[in-house]
Amino acid sequence: MATDKKLCLSGRGVTKVFGIGRQKLTAVDHVDFDFHEGEIISIVGESGSGKTTLAKMLLGLLSSSEGEIYFQGQKRDIRSGRKRQEYWKNIQAIFQDPFSAYNTFHKIDTVLLDCIRMRGGKHLPQARKVELMEEACGFVNLKYAELTHKYPFELSGGQMQRLMIARIFLLKPKILVADEPTSMIDACSRATILDYLMKLRDETGMTLIFITHDIGLAYYVSDTVYIMERGRFVEHGSADSVILRPREPYTRRLISDVPKIHEPWDLSTVVFA
Ligand SMILES: Nc1ncnc2c1ncn2[C@@H]1O[C@H](COP(=O)(O)OP(=O)(O)OP(=O)(O)O)[C@@H](O)[C@H]1O
Ligand SMILES: [Mg+2]
Repeated sequence: MATDKKLCLSGRGVTKVFGIGRQKLTAVDHVDFDFHEGEIISIVGESGSGKTTLAKMLLGLLSSSEGEIYFQGQKRDIRSGRKRQEYWKNIQAIFQDPFSAYNTFHKIDTVLLDCIRMRGGKHLPQARKVELMEEACGFVNLKYAELTHKYPFELSGGQMQRLMIARIFLLKPKILVADEPTSMIDACSRATILDYLMKLRDETGMTLIFITHDIGLAYYVSDTVYIMERGRFVEHGSADSVILRPREPYTRRLISDVPKIHEPWDLSTVVFA
C-alpha cells in the first residue's frame, strides 16, 4: 500500500440517498477512503452495490447527501462552474464502452483539440497542437495523419478505445476513474485498455481507480482494494491482504466466483487489437 505517499483523494462519511419516503434508497452509505498519489485502487462489488454512484460523486457529477470529499487534503469545493472546470483538470473518467464516450458529431481532431484546450493550450501555434496530437496518437499506436478528418464512428472498436486513452494522455489528470460496465467486454479489448492504462500510469504517476465487479482483475492490477457491499466498504487493504486473506464472507464469495485468482493474468498471450 502506498501509505508513504501524499493523499490525493479522501472521503469521510460519503453517502448518497436516492428518492424519498418509502422509495428511499441508500446507494452509498457512509464510506471512508484515502487514495494516495500514484496508487492503483480497485473498488470491487456486486452489481448494484453503489460503485458507479460513488464514482460519480468522486467525479463531481453527482452531489453527495452527506459526508465530505477532500482533494489533496483540502475540502473539495466545486460549487461554482469555474471551480468544477478546475477540478476536472485533475480528475477524469473513462468508461469501457467507447461508443458512449464520444460526441459522434465531432471529428477526431476536434476531440483531441478539446483536450489541449482544457489543458490551457488554446493559443498554442497550430504546428505545436498537431505535434501534441501526433504524440498522443503515437502513445497508443494510432496514426494521427490517418485519423484527422474522421469521425469516431468511422473507427474500429479497438481504435476507439485507444483514442480514449490518447485523450487521457493529453489531459494528464492526476486521477483517472475507470468504471467497467457490468456486461463483460471481451477479454482482448479489456487487456488492451489495461495495458495502455498501466503504461500511462507509469509515465505520469497518476492515481488510478478501477471500478469493477471482478475481484480477479482487482488482484491483478491494484495496490489497494476496497470491497463494497450494499453501499458500504466492508473490507479494505492491500490487494494481497484482502484477496489472499479475506476476513468477510462477502469477499470470500466474490473470490469463489473467480476460478483462477492466484494465477496472474498473462497479457503476453493476448493479441492486441
Ligand atoms: N439516479 C438514480 N436514482 C435512483 N436510484 C439509483 C440511481 N442511480 C443508481 N441508483 C440505485 O443505486 C444503487 C447502486 O447503483 P450503482 O449504479 O451505483 O451500482 P453499481 O455498483 O455501479 O452496479 P453495476 O455493477 O451493475 O454497475 C442501485 O440500487 C441503483 O438502482
Ligand atoms: Mg456501475
